[in-house]
Amino acid sequence: MSTTYPPVIAPSVLAANHANLAEGMRTINASGVPWVHLDIMDGHFVPNLSFGPQVVADLRPLGTQYFDTHLMLDNPHKYVEAFAKAGSQNITVHVEPEYPIMETLDHIRALGCDAGICINPGTPVEALLPYLEKVQLVLLMSVQPGFGGQSFRREVLGKIATLDGWRKARGLSLRIEVDGGINADTGRECREAGADTFVCGTAFFKAPDKRAFVEAICG
Ligand code: DX5
Ligand code: ZN
Repeated sequence: MSTTYPPVIAPSVLAANHANLAEGMRTINASGVPWVHLDIMDGHFVPNLSFGPQVVADLRPLGTQYFDTHLMLDNPHKYVEAFAKAGSQNITVHVEPEYPIMETLDHIRALGCDAGICINPGTPVEALLPYLEKVQLVLLMSVQPGFGGQSFRREVLGKIATLDGWRKARGLSLRIEVDGGINADTGRECREAGADTFVCGTAFFKAPDKRAFVEAICG
């Protein structure tokens, strides 16, 4: 029997003011959402740089949210321990780079964290099949990773529905997360397709009423 998870918003601090991420955490605390999404970029796997384990460690005491960490790295296996020590609770790695994926997922679990696996828009959903029994979360990119503020790519809706079908058919306990261009409308569409976890950067931090924004997707 697959587990159904309550819908949740994960604000991405990539969209906050990087000269004042503490203020970003205060905004998230005030909104009452239980998750934070942390985008880690290496300038290789994606054409951008963000922040590392030290920033995660410094954000950790500023909130009680579940730290959902998205590693957009060519060599994620070299950094999972540092992020686990910094306070990450979920660590998600991509299938596209060349590295020992299975061993890395086992290592993430051995560090006491939940493990997530992620695919880019151009990667078929079947690429996830070898890893479904090993993870607590699957992240489907609805933009090409590297930047916030991009437009939502609708082809992810078919992937969500396929994955949700596998989840039900195999009785898998995993969350289906979408990331990129998620706002009240696209979030709702993804939820109707079967997703339960919604990364929101620009739309969350720009929303005049954060609680109404959350309600629009999760209500
Ligand atoms: C992009 C990141 C996303 C991004 C989402 O590579 O993985 O998490 O911050 O930002 P928005 O919601 O603005 O598309
Ligand atoms: Zn992300």
